[in-house]
Amino acid sequence: MQKTGLSQSVFEFNRKRFVQQLKPNSIAVFNSNDIYPISADSTHPFEQHRDIFYLTGIDQEETTLILYPDAENPAHREIVFVRKTNPQIAVWEGHKLTAKEATMVSGIKTVYWADTFEQVFMDLARHSEHIYINTNEHYRAKVETETREDRFIKWCKELFPYQKYEKSNFILQRLRSVKAPEEIAQIKHACSITEKGFRRVLGFVKPGVWEYEIQAEYAHEFLRNRSKGFAYTPIIASGSNSNVLHYIENNQQCQNGELLLMDVGAEFGNYASDMTRTIPVSGRFSTRQRAVYNAVLNVKNEATKLLVPGTLWKAYHKEVGKLMSSALIDLELITKKDVLTNSEAYKTYFMHGTSHHLGLDTHDYGLLDEPMQPNMVFTVEPGIYIPKEGFGIRLEDDVVVQASGAPINLMANIPIDPDEIEGLMNG
Ligand code: GLY
Ligand code: MN
Ligand code: MN
Repeated sequence: MQKTGLSQSVFEFNRKRFVQQLKPNSIAVFNSNDIYPISADSTHPFEQHRDIFYLTGIDQEETTLILYPDAENPAHREIVFVRKTNPQIAVWEGHKLTAKEATMVSGIKTVYWADTFEQVFMDLARHSEHIYINTNEHYRAKVETETREDRFIKWCKELFPYQKYEKSNFILQRLRSVKAPEEIAQIKHACSITEKGFRRVLGFVKPGVWEYEIQAEYAHEFLRNRSKGFAYTPIIASGSNSNVLHYIENNQQCQNGELLLMDVGAEFGNYASDMTRTIPVSGRFSTRQRAVYNAVLNVKNEATKLLVPGTLWKAYHKEVGKLMSSALIDLELITKKDVLTNSEAYKTYFMHGTSHHLGLDTHDYGLLDEPMQPNMVFTVEPGIYIPKEGFGIRLEDDVVVQASGAPINLMANIPIDPDEIEGLMNG
């Protein structure tokens, strides 16, 4: 849609750091996503594969990247293949990148048309010792579709069965988990668009509005601020829907006395923001709702302080478990005895993880058995879900780990204090 890209130097830097990790005489290949079909001639809007975007900035289908730092011909150390454009494509589909533009975006000097890829790759790969392929190793991935990357890997392995294959994924998981200042600025901007959406919704929600109407308010605000839209399928969950962790129907009417849980984030330039706020439909929390709300808010604030360099993922979740256990005891949802018999008793009311990496993907890359580092971006999103009381509360902010001291909260300006929320809803 709109041009919201990073500068060429960011992608150059990303490639430089990637190739530093390759074994000698290695060739690495990255493919864009397909345009996914619906049926007949309908398709989903194109979404670029985040790895090739990270390495080139090129946001166009049918793009392939070759990195071969030891290539004899210096022009072949970085090659990007883009879809061949012609006047007819320009008339029907609009502008596609010219070779010069592909260089401008990515900083890659050698740009070839996509239909030459196979020949060029075969000529180069013959001389290489290792081929780095880009498998999807994300801890939450569950893919049933054969991607363009998968087709390439299949083709490549048939052609070169005796090459040594390596995985790019480990390298990218590490690189992408630590953000450059320009990337943090993109995420921060996405957060600021989300903030506009939330403030708009605070003035809109009242008994009788429908969840999809609220979704429309966010979409309106996101699009008019140069976001392509939601970074992930939004959850707009009123009443007992707020206890369904992946509720996305968003088709119920909000009733007086209910809470409304909204897990919503704008994207900006392919970077995600990820926010959750829970507000009272009437504009006023009940005493009990407020008590649970304050407990979640306190766990969020305390958990955030633990996101410092050196923290290990498992230890972090264990600490948050302790914070949550004591909050649930205070709320009389569990007892001390429950905790003594089972240290995970809190999971009855808080059954999901507290954080995930955030970046080009909402659940971004990051190796979870390695210690936290400065400039990693995490969500912090505890919740308490009480089906028997008809509501669940989750609060979620996005924070950046600092070299020293507490993380910076990129959502610090998005209202979260219950008094402030009531004030804005009744203002
Ligand atoms: N919105 C997805 C998540 O919070 O992880
Ligand atoms: Mn979320
Ligand atoms: Mn999240």
